[in-house]
Amino acid sequence: MRRLDQLLANLGYCSRSEARAWIAGGRVTVKGVLADDFGQKAQPADVQIDGAPPDHPEGLLLVFHKPLGLVCSHEAREGPNVYSRLPERWRKRHPIVTSIGRLDKDTSGLLVLTDQSALVHRLTSPKHKVPKIYRATVDQDLSPKWIPLFAAGTLMLTGETTPCAPAELRLLTPREAEITLTEGRYHQVRRMFAAVGAAVLTLHRESFGSLELGHLAAGQWRELPLDTFTKPNAVTSSADLS
Ligand code: URA
Repeated sequence: MRRLDQLLANLGYCSRSEARAWIAGGRVTVKGVLADDFGQKAQPADVQIDGAPPDHPEGLLLVFHKPLGLVCSHEAREGPNVYSRLPERWRKRHPIVTSIGRLDKDTSGLLVLTDQSALVHRLTSPKHKVPKIYRATVDQDLSPKWIPLFAAGTLMLTGETTPCAPAELRLLTPREAEITLTEGRYHQVRRMFAAVGAAVLTLHRESFGSLELGHLAAGQWRELPLDTFTKPNAVTSSADLS
């Protein structure tokens, strides 16, 4: 049960004071009865706003195809962000819609967005090793020697004190590879290739756990059931895949 003014504000409809005006103005009903008390507690399923059920009252979980050039930060000074592509109401929700892990500005591909803070913490925790597959092109021919090097779990990145966890490198063409990581260190793919003397020219994330983009175009999203990562058969960790 949630207070009506809080429910409207948290779902991004308006501010809490505006919500009180909406309720006074007869725009909200509970079980079909016009609400006149903004402090009234109600189940979201019983509420209608302007004659329609509330927008995703239980939460949002999205697969988003991140285009190049957008950041995952909410800081306006960092430039245009991925959230700018979502409906305005979703951008005004509390808890805020955020990404589960980040892709850098020059990386495209699969990003999971949600307002479920517990899920963000769980899936970004180092304990929960979600396999993520990236496709990278590099500035020189890939060496087969890098396969065991990336897989060894000994590769050190500049400025770090612990080696990268084992990563699987698959060579696709002379300068294109797929790499599977179970960690999410800052610019990790670019820095792993830099550690062997190569520069990444393009980078795209193809999958996150069992999620893939499919035919989702850049800038578009697909909604996921909220239990996607918690239902019994969810494939979210490398242990699940082995
Ligand atoms: N590694 C990178 O270098 N960039 C990303 O966005 C993700 C992984």
